[in-house]
Amino acid sequence: MAKYLVACVFAAVVLFGLIQASDLILGNIVSGDRILYSQVASAPGIPGGLVSRAVNYTGVYNITAIRAYDRTFNRTGQAHVTGGGLYQRYVNLALQTRFIGSPLDYLVEIYGR
Ligand SMILES: *[C@@H]1O[C@H](CO)[C@@H](O)[C@H](O)[C@H]1NC(C)=O
Ligand SMILES: *[C@@H]1O[C@H](CO)[C@@H](O)[C@H](O)[C@H]1NC(C)=O
Ligand SMILES: *[C@@H]1O[C@H](CO)[C@@H](O)[C@H](O)[C@H]1NC(C)=O
Repeated sequence: MAKYLVACVFAAVVLFGLIQASDLILGNIVSGDRILYSQVASAPGIPGGLVSRAVNYTGVYNITAIRAYDRTFNRTGQAHVTGGGLYQRYVNLALQTRFIGSPLDYLVEIYGR
């Protein structure tokens, strides 16, 4: 029984991790922050291939929050910061699918002040 419970908790944690992995959430959005960037980055799935997109933003305000929401039905994406980021004026994001043939569909929002 105890083993079963541990297995359940472990499975739940892994599942939660998988669901969470799709979205990139960095920093907090507080009043006074302005939205610097809000765009969809998407690509249709390629049979036998993995699709990816880069979002490179550069502006004049300090970035205080970064959001990349995976909008694919099965949440098959992953998003990483590859350059810049919070408290800088630029950020480079790499968006890609984790599964062959899956489409890519992210809403990217960047906030700053
Ligand atoms: C951005 O942050 C730096 C360091 O925290 C600060 O010196 C600078 O004044 C900030 N720039 C703006 C436009 O807020
Ligand atoms: C989502 O996953 C299900 C089950 O694996 C699959 O049948 C379906 O085609 C997938 N949907 C999309 C939009 O990829
Ligand atoms: C975006 O930034 C990445 C590095 O993080 C770089 O490899 C890529 O060439 C850049 N793309 C564009 C269009 O500037």
